[in-house]
Formats: sequence, C-alpha cells, structure tokens
Amino acid sequence: MLERLTDPRFRAISQPSPQAIDLIRRVLAEHSAPVVAEIGIGIGATSVALCELLDHRGEAWFFDFEERVNELATDLRAAGYQNIRVMGNSRATYDSYSWTLAMLLRRRRSAQPVELFDFIYLDGAHVCHHDTLATVCAKELLKRSGYLLMDDYDWTIATSPTMRPSVNPTIRQHYTEEQIELSHVEMICSLLLDTDPEFQRVPIGYRTREHRRAYRKLG
Ligand SMILES: C[S@@+](CC[C@H](N)C(=O)[O-])C[C@H]1O[C@@H](n2cnc3c(N)ncnc32)[C@H](O)[C@@H]1O
Repeated sequence: MLERLTDPRFRAISQPSPQAIDLIRRVLAEHSAPVVAEIGIGIGATSVALCELLDHRGEAWFFDFEERVNELATDLRAAGYQNIRVMGNSRATYDSYSWTLAMLLRRRRSAQPVELFDFIYLDGAHVCHHDTLATVCAKELLKRSGYLLMDDYDWTIATSPTMRPSVNPTIRQHYTEEQIELSHVEMICSLLLDTDPEFQRVPIGYRTREHRRAYRKLG
C-alpha cells in the first residue's frame, strides 16, 4: 500500500494530516507511550507519520476495510513497526468501522477501564449513517485529556468530485437534497460534541472555513 504514497495518481491523499501530527505531538509531550487510533487510513499517509512520531512507543490502531488495514499492517511491519493493531471490517453495504468500534466498546465495557485511546483521528466515510455511531463510540473510548480530531468538517456530497449528482446521478436514490447539500460531519459535531460539556474545542489554526475540527475530553 505505501508504494502509492509516491504514485502521482494518489497525490490528493499522499500527505499526512498536519493537524493530526500537531495533536500527536501534544499527546507525546504528556505521555511517553500513548495509544492512538486512525479511523479511515486512505493509502497510509497519516498512518506512517503516526508510527514515525510514536517511534515504537505505545500503540497505533488502524480501522478501515479488512484488506486495506491488512495491506497497511504488512507494509508497516516490514518497515519495522510492530506496535500496531488493525481492525478491519467487511465490504457488506452496511458494515463499517462504526460497527467495529461499537463491538470494541461493548467488550471494553465488560472490563475496566473502558477508555483506551489518547488520540483518535476520525477520517472515514464522513456520512451520518457511519460516523454518528463512530463518534458516539469514539467519545467513550477516548481517555480523559485525550484529543479527538474530526476530518471533513466542511465536506458535502454536493461538492465531492466523485459523489456529486452531476457526476454520479444515482446518489439521489440514496440521499435527499438536504443530505446532499449539508455537511454530515458538521451536523455530528454540532449534535454530539459542540454541546457536550465534557468536550472542549481545540483551536487548530483555521480562521474561516474549517476542514477539520478538534476536541479535548476534559480531565
Ligand atoms: C479520506 S480516506 C482517509 C485518509 C487518511 N486518514 C489520511 O490521513 O491519509 C477515508 C478512508 O475511509 C475508509 N472508509 C470509508 N468508508 C468505509 C467503511 N464503510 N468501512 C471502512 N472504511 C471505510 C476508506 O476506505 C478510506 O481509506
């Protein structure tokens, strides 16, 4: 998988998220061996950067489709990183990392502590039916003082180069006009995070249009 990072066809997803890197650095300033999660790995641009920053300390967990996380794990292990865990899901229409997270949370609730991660980067499908449950689970799986980074805060189906109705007319069979026009991640943030007194917004450098939004779970 990692060979695609230098392939011009994947240029759009070949760079790590600078905000994820910044937040990992903040976590590392407080914890020598943090546990971090990336939900949605793409071609591994941020995944590799996370491993480099952890430098064999703590653990990095990766969630995505099964064949993708397995490919990433093979490459990262070959590069010498053994402190990784991969959590894959099937290609069934309604399966996703959200179900994997829900099952993980249920298992952890039967033992203590429930909280597992010092940092979670949620960067998956950015649609309500996957990311609402994923966010509910991520909030509980995040340790106190941990950071949650929500990607695609400004993303909409209407502006997506591959999903917008002019390119993909069948999208109208799956989403209403309102669901096409509005950002699902913005809605999830406003309903589940912005109003939760346990979560505090963390400024990450955006002035006007936010592409990502970060939160810290209060200690
Ligand atoms: C934008 S990419 C992630 C980019 C990556 N975080 C980075 O920084 O390079 C979104 C990822 O979400 C994953 N994804 C989307 N829908 C999914 C689903 N239903 N189940 C599992 N993974 C999914 C895709 O396979 C893709 O790898």
